[in-house]
Amino acid sequence: MTLDQPRSAAPPIGFAPPYIDEATIAAVERVLRSGWITTGPETSAFEEELAAYTGADQVVCGGSWTGLAGVVLDWFGVGPGDEVILPAYTYCATANVVLHRGATPVLLDLPPGEKSDGLNVTWDQVASRLSSRTKVIMPVDIGGWPVHHSQWKSRLEAWSKQNGFVANHPEQSALGRPLLLADSAHSLGAEIEGKALGHQADITLFSFHAVKNLTTAEGGAAGISLPDSFSADAVKKQLKSLCLHGQTKDADAKFRASGRGAWQYDVTSPGFKCNMTDIQAAMGRVALSRYAEDLQHRRSLADAYDAGLSQVSAITLPFRNDLQRKSADHLYPIQLSEEWMPFRDDIMAELAERGIATNVHFPPIPLLTAYAERGFDVVDYPESHQAFLRAISLPIHRHMSLSDVQRVCHAIAEIGSQLPVSRTS
Ligand SMILES: Cc1ncc(COP(=O)(O)O)c(C=O)c1O
Repeated sequence: MTLDQPRSAAPPIGFAPPYIDEATIAAVERVLRSGWITTGPETSAFEEELAAYTGADQVVCGGSWTGLAGVVLDWFGVGPGDEVILPAYTYCATANVVLHRGATPVLLDLPPGEKSDGLNVTWDQVASRLSSRTKVIMPVDIGGWPVHHSQWKSRLEAWSKQNGFVANHPEQSALGRPLLLADSAHSLGAEIEGKALGHQADITLFSFHAVKNLTTAEGGAAGISLPDSFSADAVKKQLKSLCLHGQTKDADAKFRASGRGAWQYDVTSPGFKCNMTDIQAAMGRVALSRYAEDLQHRRSLADAYDAGLSQVSAITLPFRNDLQRKSADHLYPIQLSEEWMPFRDDIMAELAERGIATNVHFPPIPLLTAYAERGFDVVDYPESHQAFLRAISLPIHRHMSLSDVQRVCHAIAEIGSQLPVSRTS
């Protein structure tokens, strides 16, 4: 086959192109013309709107999930000697931010199939690795399927009461237990017990990267819902300052202040530089205002995948709903049977030939050179390794229609029927 003779006449289906409508373009233009393009009134408004949507006490927006995660770990005093528990089956960012602080990532394998919770780790695995060195637990809502954060928080509180907790930082003493920091990069709009996700963990981190359900090109948000021993307003102020070098005033506050010495500021701790700009916030506000509609669209596509692939016995479908939880359907990650697994990359290449883009989420952390060189070995994470070898993420986004989903399902069934495996798979 050559590039001049495409096999499929149907238009290509991209993996996760951003949905930029006219309202987004108009909002960005408005900010560009306003004379204020960095952190300012748009960012403040977006933070308030996100707090209302997620139910978090306060929200801080930042330049990326990664920047915000670093700032939160710094705020909680995470450093050398501290352990952060997180899954091996996640994107590198979840582990990188721990290494950046000189702390130790404690990686959990996925549970065996019969105990699985989609591609998420379970509380039992966390419990087996909790120790006096654990400062943070960072579960990941893979693909938008939420970890039951409120249940985890109660269990963490019970564990801490039984086992004691040694704090080495003022914020840790105020909390009296490890911090539950949710990597909810994929799960804005997911639900736990009928409520929007974002206030169940101590701090919930969302990503607004270009491929995410809601995008600001790059960006993220931290939902703060700490116990009463904290003031959410004060924590927001601290996190925002840490996103801007530790300055006591941002550019907008300096600009708006008047009188002699209005320019003055101090730096109270050497912070990062990962604030959100008003241009990003303007994109985010438009996307949030139509988010219910976007989510509904994703859910119908995912329902159509469920229906279209239910007859393909060689495919395990993603977890999307149970009695207490609802996914944000960020990804549609299928798992191939043992027989189909060796052909994973062939299936993806064949789908690409037919104009259908797919992806793999994720190569587990121990498989990445940076981690292998630090002594992690994928052999110790067999379930995560298997899940990776069996994984294909199918396209799911606002530009797709139900007939696109049918096209993908037909293509998979057809490709599968031609694989050199026995007919029963
Ligand atoms: C699970 C997970 N965590 C964290 C991140 C990092 O997000 P960001 O690119 O906003 O820093 C990503 C990005 O894709 C992710 O998939």
